[in-house]
Amino acid sequence: MRKKVKVSAPGKLMLFGEHAVLYGYPCLVTAVDCRMSVSVEETKTNDLELNASDVGIKDYVKSIEKLGKGEVSKGARFVEAAVKNFFQRFEVASGLKVRTESDFSSQFGFGGSSAATVGIIAALANLFKKSLSRRQIFDLSYQTIIEVQGIGSGFDLAAATWGGTLYFTKGGDKVRPISHQKLPLSVGYTGIKADTSALVHQVAHLFRRKPKATGRIFSEIGSIVERATKTLKNGDFQKLGKLMDLNQKLLDKLGVGSKELTGLISAAKAAGALGAKLSGAGGGDCMITLVSEEKRRKMERAIDAAGGKVLRVQTAAEGVKIEE
Ligand code: MEV
Repeated sequence: MRKKVKVSAPGKLMLFGEHAVLYGYPCLVTAVDCRMSVSVEETKTNDLELNASDVGIKDYVKSIEKLGKGEVSKGARFVEAAVKNFFQRFEVASGLKVRTESDFSSQFGFGGSSAATVGIIAALANLFKKSLSRRQIFDLSYQTIIEVQGIGSGFDLAAATWGGTLYFTKGGDKVRPISHQKLPLSVGYTGIKADTSALVHQVAHLFRRKPKATGRIFSEIGSIVERATKTLKNGDFQKLGKLMDLNQKLLDKLGVGSKELTGLISAAKAAGALGAKLSGAGGGDCMITLVSEEKRRKMERAIDAAGGKVLRVQTAAEGVKIEE
């Protein structure tokens, strides 16, 4: 019988600190209960066969020796690089059938590619009986992401790997779990896919043009993250909401807001949200908001009326785990 393993890894939402995290400041990220499942099966062939319906990949085949080389289909880049890196690191190789399936749309900005990368590494470790710590899974996943896209703090990989809510700095230099009460969070999707790479470059350009002012914004975001970490631990959601608003103002100053995000954020605030901000690179994807139970329905209706799609997620979900 051929060996087969199935794992799942969670998506993420950035709570505080996006962009500044790329400049050495901390961020707060939470894993959400929307999962990417990855199944990996050994085959007798010399090929990687991939099906990833969430990113439009059907019956993709690449020979193991050519992984990461030549033409790499966009949706297959992370899986190819992850398999190649795992094989190189542990000096193993095999034909593989890989299937990724997600309970969330790749359009939301929940970190599907990162969850798939972490999932593949964890699945291969199990298949080839290499006992990797979560730190090792993260490190190999981070190497993979940087190789494929050149940039990234790795916060999304950390959420997929460890789960929970994390205080995190770039490259995983600091990864601290933060325990907190259930967050009264709602999520509004703008319907627009953010171009993370373009937004990161846009902020880098602003930093080159106006280093002092932009550096000050990063540092203010960093101090909001520190305050938010304490506030989250104390469960003071009123205060946490105010910190969200402050973080959003700074993100607007960085120029990563959009009229759709502003529309949903204003609608949520007008309907009584404790605070609201974009989550992720900006330009689209999702906004997040904290709201009391009494006002939740009203606020969610307001997000809907402003053209957003309300997504129901639980935070602090479990990190990568073996399913079968
Ligand atoms: C994008 O979701 C968040 C950024 O901070 C990039 C990153 O941390 O990798 C803009």
